Amino acid sequence: MAYAMWPQVTDGMRERPKALMEGASSGPFLQLECAVQTGLNGKRVVITGASKGIGLACAIAFAAEGAHVTGLSRSEANLREAQAVLAREGYAMDVRAVDLTDAHAAEAAMTAIEAAGGIDVLVNSAGAARRYPLEELSHDVFQEALDAKYFTYMNVMAPTIRAMAQRGRGSVVNVVGQGGKQANPLHIAGGSANAALMLASVGFARAYAGKGVRVNVINPGLTRTGRVEEGLEAAVRASGRSRDELLAEQVAEIPLGRMAEPGEVAQVALFLASDLASYVTGAVVPMDGGRASVI
Ligand SMILES: NC(=O)c1ccc[n+]([C@@H]2O[C@H](COP(=O)([O-])OP(=O)(O)OC[C@H]3O[C@@H](n4cnc5c(N)ncnc54)[C@H](OP(=O)(O)O)[C@@H]3O)[C@@H](O)[C@H]2O)c1
Repeated sequence: MAYAMWPQVTDGMRERPKALMEGASSGPFLQLECAVQTGLNGKRVVITGASKGIGLACAIAFAAEGAHVTGLSRSEANLREAQAVLAREGYAMDVRAVDLTDAHAAEAAMTAIEAAGGIDVLVNSAGAARRYPLEELSHDVFQEALDAKYFTYMNVMAPTIRAMAQRGRGSVVNVVGQGGKQANPLHIAGGSANAALMLASVGFARAYAGKGVRVNVINPGLTRTGRVEEGLEAAVRASGRSRDELLAEQVAEIPLGRMAEPGEVAQVALFLASDLASYVTGAVVPMDGGRASVI
């Protein structure tokens, strides 16, 4: 297992949390990790969607940097399970259950967290638009996609960024999705929400750069979370082909030859949120294993 290959911790190196390593078989996990200064120790970090998948991986990664992490999702029970995952690594996370499609509830949650000490970093990774075969597209599906993906991010980002600007510092990382750049007939509704989020993120980056706030986007491609199964279910409905065949076909299209691990997306979120990326704002970073191959 990849974790066993991780080198012993010596001076100037830190051990990577085991939960970030699970499933990773090669590549970045074989590198030595030098003790670079992310500046995240003691920072107050809010992560939406922290109960599962990429958001949970981000919670572990930021906690490992010494940040004070608050995780949001709809389900108290899921958040408690996520807390237990962090606890097994020796980390803690405050949690707050809130449905971020509800603008008032989202703003109230962020205002309360902000009032408790100020939010230094916001990572948005909550919610995801479902995929639908073309014949199932309808007004309700488009509305659902915007609620599930666009508004879950905007309802959090808008109030938080204003508070960051008032304090003259802050960093936002939005985990959006390569489906907002590359059209997929099964992902027209969700892909449109992703495209809108990218534009909003870059717009906020420009608007708030002079006030000390950076905003960046990560666009994952296929990443090994529960989302993958949901996408495959829609593909099975649309094509009548088997799940395994469709998955193998999708992976075969990825030049790096595998899906991303959630922990790999978290590492890029760490970088973008940190002082290491102090001159990076308005960037849209693809993480699709080289699939799009466009500039
Ligand atoms: N995995 C991929 O292949 C992939 C590819 C491209 C982009 N992305 C994007 O990356 C982000 C994270 O995806 P993921 O794969 O990590 O998905 P995931 O494993 O399904 O996690 C989604 C998270 O969002 C939370 N959530 C969902 N709706 C919410 C709401 N209305 N209010 C608050 N929290 C909500 C969920 O928690 P509860 O259920 O506890 O509420 C969960 O913590 C999504 O925006 C997704 O579109 C993923």
